[in-house]
This record gives sequence, C-alpha cells and structure tokens, in this order.
Amino acid sequence: MKILILNGPNLNMLGKREPDIYGKDTLEDINKRLQKYASPKGIELTFVQSNHEGVLIDTLQNCQQWADGVVLNPGGFTHTSVALRDAISSITVPVVEVHLSNVYARESFRHTSLISAVCRGKISGFGARSYLLGIQSFED
Ligand code: DQA
Repeated sequence: MKILILNGPNLNMLGKREPDIYGKDTLEDINKRLQKYASPKGIELTFVQSNHEGVLIDTLQNCQQWADGVVLNPGGFTHTSVALRDAISSITVPVVEVHLSNVYARESFRHTSLISAVCRGKISGFGARSYLLGIQSFED
C-alpha cells in the first residue's frame, strides 16, 4: 500500500510554531515516527509539504498515478480553499483530512472546512497521532 502524507502551509514550522497548540515535535520528527510505524507493515509513505496551494493541487492530481490513499493536513487552506476541495473531488484516490489540533475547540473560522465533505473522513485533535490514525484508516 502506498500513502501520500501531504501537509499544507506553515506545517514546516512545527516545533517552533505555537507549540502550546501544535506540540514541540517538528514535521520531520512526526514523519520519522510515521515511517517507523509504516515500514514493518510494508506501507510505503511519501511525504510532501508545501506552502503553496498550486503545489498541493498538482501533488493531489499527480498522486492518482501511484497512491492508494492520501493523509492530508491542509493547514489554513482547510477553511478557505475551494480549489483544494475541487482537486480532492476530482481524483478517485481517497483522502483523509487530519489536523493536529481540535479545530472545533478553537476560533469559529476553524469550524468550517471546505474539504470535509469530499474526504473519506476527518481526524482532528490528537496531535501527531492524528496522522497515525489517518494511516490506520487505510489498513484492513
Ligand atoms: C491545522 C488547523 C488549521 O486551522 C490551521 O490553520 C493549521 C493547522 C491543524 O493541524 O491543527 O495550520 O490544520
């Protein structure tokens, strides 16, 4: 099984960025942990992070060629991007939306996700474990 772990804007700042909300782990720490979980199970992970909406959309379109699933944390684009939603609904690969923080316990603008309705499911509030749960959602 091949899974794309796709992170959007500002998630490259993890570790330094609002650690009280997002934790002290860097994105590299999280990715290493996911790799450690996935490798023995023969799950192949590909990691992409971009601060650019178009790169996220290109990556989603291109993953059709090879991915069985996508674990996507779209960062702030969750709440704003019709284009990202359209990209998700235009591909057949299932996408699981993940967030480190519990977006419903935060500002009201974070309560709206433009992408949830076109995702297979949504995981929010479990810190780095949200990504792990996302991967597990694709396992038998
Ligand atoms: C986030 C939540 C978003 O509201 C925020 O813009 C982020 C991170 C999360 O992982 O909790 O950048 O997606």
